[in-house]
Amino acid sequence: MCGIVGYIGQKEKKEIILDALKELEYRGYDSAGIAVISDGKLNHFKAVGKIKNLEEKASGFESKGSGIAIGHTRWATHGKPTELNAHPHLGAFSYVVHNGIIENYQELRKELIDKGIKFVSQTDTESIVHLFEQNLATGVEPFEAFKATINRLEGAYAVLLITQVAPDTIFFAKNGSPMLLARDDNDVYFASSDTAVVGRAKEAYYLEDGEYGFAKTNSVKLYSKDTPKEFVTKPLPEDKTLAQKDGFRFFMEKEIYEQSSVMNDTMLGRVLEDTIEFEELDKSLFDGIRAIKICACGTSYHAGLTGAYLLERMAKIPCQVEIASEFRYKEPLLTPDTLFITISQSGETADTLEALKMAKRAGLKSLTICNVDNSSIVRESDYAILTRAGIEKGVASTKAFATQVMVLWMLTIYLAQKRDTLDKESIDTELNAMRHTPKALIVARLLHERIYRLSKRYLHGHGFFFIGRDIFYPLALEGALKLKEISYLHAEGYPAGEMKHGPIALADAELFTIALMPKNMLYDKIKSNVEELIARDATILAISPDTFGMADDYIKIRHADHPMLEFFEMMLVTQILALEISIRLGNDVDMPRNLAKSVTVE
Ligand code: M6R
Repeated sequence: MCGIVGYIGQKEKKEIILDALKELEYRGYDSAGIAVISDGKLNHFKAVGKIKNLEEKASGFESKGSGIAIGHTRWATHGKPTELNAHPHLGAFSYVVHNGIIENYQELRKELIDKGIKFVSQTDTESIVHLFEQNLATGVEPFEAFKATINRLEGAYAVLLITQVAPDTIFFAKNGSPMLLARDDNDVYFASSDTAVVGRAKEAYYLEDGEYGFAKTNSVKLYSKDTPKEFVTKPLPEDKTLAQKDGFRFFMEKEIYEQSSVMNDTMLGRVLEDTIEFEELDKSLFDGIRAIKICACGTSYHAGLTGAYLLERMAKIPCQVEIASEFRYKEPLLTPDTLFITISQSGETADTLEALKMAKRAGLKSLTICNVDNSSIVRESDYAILTRAGIEKGVASTKAFATQVMVLWMLTIYLAQKRDTLDKESIDTELNAMRHTPKALIVARLLHERIYRLSKRYLHGHGFFFIGRDIFYPLALEGALKLKEISYLHAEGYPAGEMKHGPIALADAELFTIALMPKNMLYDKIKSNVEELIARDATILAISPDTFGMADDYIKIRHADHPMLEFFEMMLVTQILALEISIRLGNDVDMPRNLAKSVTVE
C-alpha cells in the first residue's frame, strides 16, 4: 500500500526522501514522486514504476540548505498507475501526498470543478490540495486553511501538505492510515512506518487518529479536536531489520497481527452502506455466466474452497474448485458460460498461470483475485480484484489468505445482489458481519499468551488432524498446511464427519486433533464427531466460543453472531498455534526449509 515521507532540515532533501521511500518499498507501489521547497522554490518529480526511475528523473537536481520535502509511493486505488495520478499532487502553489482513501472525494471534486478548478488526475487525493488553496483564498492563515480542509475529509488518510505560502512548514493530519513523526536535533521527519527513519532519527511519535498540526525546524504543534496536545516520543529501534518487523519476532507474526488493519483496506470502497461494489469489474462480467470454476494452489486453493461454499449457498451458482497442477493435465471440460477465477497471492505461480492460459484458450472469461498488481496472472486475466494485503514476506501465507477469503465473501454478496438470491435483510446481515471482521481479527494479548502456553504440549506425537465442517473444513486444511509448513510436523485437514471412514483408526493419546467448533455452524454435528474421537482416547484441542469440558485443551474465541466472524478468529488461533510450535522447535518461521514464496516452476 502507499508510503508517505516528509523532511524538514538542512540536509540534502532529495537524498533523504528517496532513501526513505526505498525503505517503504516493501509496502508495494506502482509509482512514486517527491516535492521539495528550498530557497523558496518549488520542484517536483514523479515516475511510474520503481524508485530508480524517479531517481533518474531527479538526477540533476540538488536541494542543499534549509527547506522542506515530501515524498510518496503510490499503490493505485483510484485511477491507473500513471505519472499524472502519482503523488505529490499539485495545486497552484502547494503539494499534497496522501495515503488512504477519501470516501467523499467525488462530492469534493464536483464542488471544486463547479468553482472552476481543473483536475489533472483521477485520484481522490487531488481534491485535498485544491480545497486547501480555496480555503486559503478566503484570507485565513495557512494552518486555518489546512484545518478547514481536513475537516471536510471523510475516510482514511495520512496527509502531508506543503505550500509556497509557508515555505518552512509541513502540515500534517492522520486518520485511519499510519503516520509517525520523528526528530533528530532540529530536523523533523514524517513516515508511514519507522523503517523509513531508523538510522536518521532516534525517537518518534506515532500519531493517533484525529491528530493534525504543523511542523517547522525545531518546532512541532500537534492538535486533536481543536485542542493543542503534548506528545511524548518513543525511542526508535537502531536495527533496520527489527524495524521492518515492527518489533515482532518474525514477519509471519507481524503479518498475523496486521490482518485486522489490512482487512479495512480490502473492504474500502467495496463494502458500501447497503451494497457491494467492485469498481474494477465490468457490469456485464456475469452476463451469460452459469457456473464458476476456481483454480489455485496451496493456501489460495483453500481460500477458493471456502469461497465455493459461500458462492453456492448465497449466490446460488454452481462452483467447482480445482488445484491448478491437477487441472492442467486432466483435460477438463470447459464451457464459455463458466467464469474462470484464479486466486494467487504472488500472481506468479506457474501452475495457476498456465491453468489460466488454458481457460482463456477455451474462450472462458477470467477474473483473478490477487495481491500483486501488474503480476503475470493479473496481466493475463480479463479482470482483477486486488486483495490489498500489502507485501507478504513470511513464506507461510497468512494475511493473503484472510483477504482472499474476504474478497470471495464480498464477491458472493455482489453476485447474490445481481442474481437476486438473497433478500435485503440477509444482505444487511452479511454486510454488517463484514464490517465487524477487522475487530474479530484483533489478536488479544491473553489469547496469544494462552496459545503460547499450550503450544509446549504439541511438539511431538504421531500427527495432527485439524477437523471442521462446511467452511471450517477448508479452514482445517489451511490450519494443517500452516503447521506442517513451519513446524515440519505431520498434519492433515479433514472434514470432521469423514474421520470415522478411515482416519479414526489412528486415534490414540498421541494423535492430536484440533477441532474447529463454531457455534453458528453445525455445532452439534461436529461435537458428535469430536466425542467419537474422545471415546478412542485421541487428544483434543477444541477451539470454540463455548467451553467444551470433554476436550483435553480448550481455546476460547469470542462469541459472534455470524459464522464468518468465528472463521476469522479461529484462523488467527491456528496461525498463532503454528507460529508458537515452530518457534519452540527452533525453526526459521519466515523461511521454512524447502519452500519458496513464489513458486514459478511447475
Ligand atoms: O502466490 P500463490 O498464492 O499463487 O501461491 C500458492 C501457494 O504456493 C502458496 O499459497 C503456498 O501454499 C504458501 N506457502 C502457503 O502458506
